[in-house]
Amino acid sequence: MELADLPWWDIPALAHLEELLFPTDSPWTEAMFWGELAEGRYYRVHRDAAGRVDGYAGLAVHDDEAEVQTIGVHPAAQGAGIGRALLRDLLDHADGRRVLLDVRTDNVPALGLYAAEGFHTLGVRRRYYQPSGADAYTMERPPS
Ligand SMILES: CC(C)(COP(=O)(O)OP(=O)(O)OC[C@H]1O[C@@H](n2cnc3c(N)ncnc32)[C@H](O)[C@@H]1OP(=O)(O)O)[C@@H](O)C(=O)NCCC(=O)NCCS
Repeated sequence: MELADLPWWDIPALAHLEELLFPTDSPWTEAMFWGELAEGRYYRVHRDAAGRVDGYAGLAVHDDEAEVQTIGVHPAAQGAGIGRALLRDLLDHADGRRVLLDVRTDNVPALGLYAAEGFHTLGVRRRYYQPSGADAYTMERPPS
């Protein structure tokens, strides 16, 4: 599966996908993605046959741990292995560090993906997502 670094000109496409995928949970805006690139965060994209971004994922790397910032796949492209490829790419980039993420407690597809890739639940953040008020699990993949 071919992945590439996020170029700045695809930022509007990512903001559009966020609105599609996270309509009730404060989707990330173009300005937020610009901030991510300015911070030097690691962002990867997957494209469909026409060259449009249909999957994306980002990672913040710190000294001894990393955090999955966001990950999403266009609904029409889900279930084809793109999410797993993106997550594995981020995990490779984390280079053995402990990796953390937050996920809605009712997000069955994402929970399945994270469990399959070695994450376990550390705790619950009540009403973490707004404005939906949904709870989040904080998940950890131990250092390797
Ligand atoms: C979560 C998400 C990124 C997964 O991407 P994807 O490309 O559809 O997932 P993949 O095809 O790579 O599947 C990988 C694994 O995820 C899990 N999974 C994916 N879809 C699933 C579903 N509908 N139900 C249960 N588990 C599912 C499975 O463990 C699957 O492995 P398997 O195919 O061997 O069973 C995608 O569903 C998505 O974008 N969801 C909306 C945005 C989102 O919730 N992002 C995560 C925020 S924390």
